[in-house]
Amino acid sequence: MNIKTICVVGAGLMGQQIALLAATSGFEVYCADTSHEALKKAQEFVDGWLPKQKAKERITDEQIAHVNKSLHFVDNLADAAKNADMIIEAAVENLAIKRSIFAELDRLAPPHAILATNSSYLVSSKIADATSRPDKVLNMHFFNPALIMKTVEVVQGPHVSDETVEKVMELSRALGKRPARVNKEIYGFLCNRIFSVITKEACYMLDQGIASVEDIDNAVKGALGHPMGPLELLDMTGIDLEYHLGMERFRETGNPVDKPSPSLVERYARGDYGRKTGKGYYDYTKK
Ligand SMILES: NC(=O)c1ccc[n+]([C@@H]2O[C@H](COP(=O)([O-])OP(=O)(O)OC[C@H]3O[C@@H](n4cnc5c(N)ncnc54)[C@H](O)[C@@H]3O)[C@@H](O)[C@H]2O)c1
Repeated sequence: MNIKTICVVGAGLMGQQIALLAATSGFEVYCADTSHEALKKAQEFVDGWLPKQKAKERITDEQIAHVNKSLHFVDNLADAAKNADMIIEAAVENLAIKRSIFAELDRLAPPHAILATNSSYLVSSKIADATSRPDKVLNMHFFNPALIMKTVEVVQGPHVSDETVEKVMELSRALGKRPARVNKEIYGFLCNRIFSVITKEACYMLDQGIASVEDIDNAVKGALGHPMGPLELLDMTGIDLEYHLGMERFRETGNPVDKPSPSLVERYARGDYGRKTGKGYYDYTKK
């Protein structure tokens, strides 16, 4: 595989966990962000996570020592990318920003480096032509929380070489994941397509007064064996994210079915984005 050094772009919710996952798996990791606040929070997350894992005997002293030595949070993309064999971009979900990051990475990273985006919805063919190495640009999609969730979707757009896909499948396994190879680009890839059907139906039933938030979630957990209900999961991934994705999809397709549901819009307008703000479909301030 020959991947030793990994650069993660973005130290937010996903980036900080992907960087930590890679460091606990033995890689040298540079995680870059333009926000000093985000870098500080990411370092605090790592400093809080390591002792908790140690107390639960889920991490060895050697792994902790490796993370402390080999995980670097930096504000300079050039420093982060210059020795990278693999780059995983987890910056904000905005096409123009991602294209400009990839153009910069193409200039800064060694020619052999693979450039992956963790984007949930932007396919790599919308980004690859901003670089001179489209055969090495693909989607490597982790799930939240990236340290825990086993699936990684590795998506082969028409421009991506088999060699690139195979290397990223191998890397995913080295990170302790079970990669799913997605042979063609498709909006939402595998899991978010299935998730969106379930959440759309859950929101529809809530909007129609057919059942309560709790009854919908409990029924899905109890009958379908899902560990979380769809509305609980929306609170975790972020109602703001779901709202923007729905609106973006609606703008693209013009199909009213793609619009976010009234219950979601209502919460978005109130600023109740889910766990991150303390309220969403559930009230976490009381828990
Ligand atoms: N949140 C999820 O559940 C989830 C799951 C899977 C994939 N994703 C994808 O991961 C990506 C990141 O999502 P997130 O939830 O971690 O977002 P986030 O807002 O928590 O973090 C994004 C980070 O990117 C940084 N950033 C912005 N512009 C930058 C630049 N030019 N260079 C470097 N850093 C920059 C921001 O400062 C921020 O810290 C998105 O593409 C999203 O679609 C998110």
